[in-house]
Amino acid sequence: MAQMASGSRTEDLKTELATLASHAKSPQALMSRMVKLLHDRMLKYNWVGFYMLEQDLPAQAPILVLGAFEGAMTPHARIPLHQGICGAAASTGKTVVVDDVSKDPRYLACSLETKSEIVVPIYVSGKVRGELDIDSHFLAAFDQEDRELVEFCAGLVGKRLEQES
Ligand code: SME
Repeated sequence: MAQMASGSRTEDLKTELATLASHAKSPQALMSRMVKLLHDRMLKYNWVGFYMLEQDLPAQAPILVLGAFEGAMTPHARIPLHQGICGAAASTGKTVVVDDVSKDPRYLACSLETKSEIVVPIYVSGKVRGELDIDSHFLAAFDQEDRELVEFCAGLVGKRLEQES
């Protein structure tokens, strides 16, 4: 059987997400609709949420604060940069994919059902401003195509945030 063209599983969704980004009234509106769309459409994306960097006082270390999300409430509403897979992605500025969270000592448990996770940093004018975090109840749920989809989403939010600044 002929192989499907690369990216075909998510191509329509990317088009829809780009349309969403061009019509969103604010970055917050875009993020709320994006988490819902990803959670509804991608069956293995069981928790989808944004964490944004916040710095209350200049002397304090920045912290990741939970923003729009879809899925069960998480006990981790605020994550310091030296903690968790979320902290690792934000502090290195690189996408982190964990195929089996039970084998990663950095992992902060959000739900007992979570088996794998992807976290993609969001860049605004060259600096990390937050990240998009997705958990799955399936082992190794995030392949190269998922990674490209989530990086595409993070890119759309970064561009939308740039328009505000
Ligand atoms: N698992 C994340 C914490 C956030 S929850 O997944 C929503 C981590 O290890 O940083």
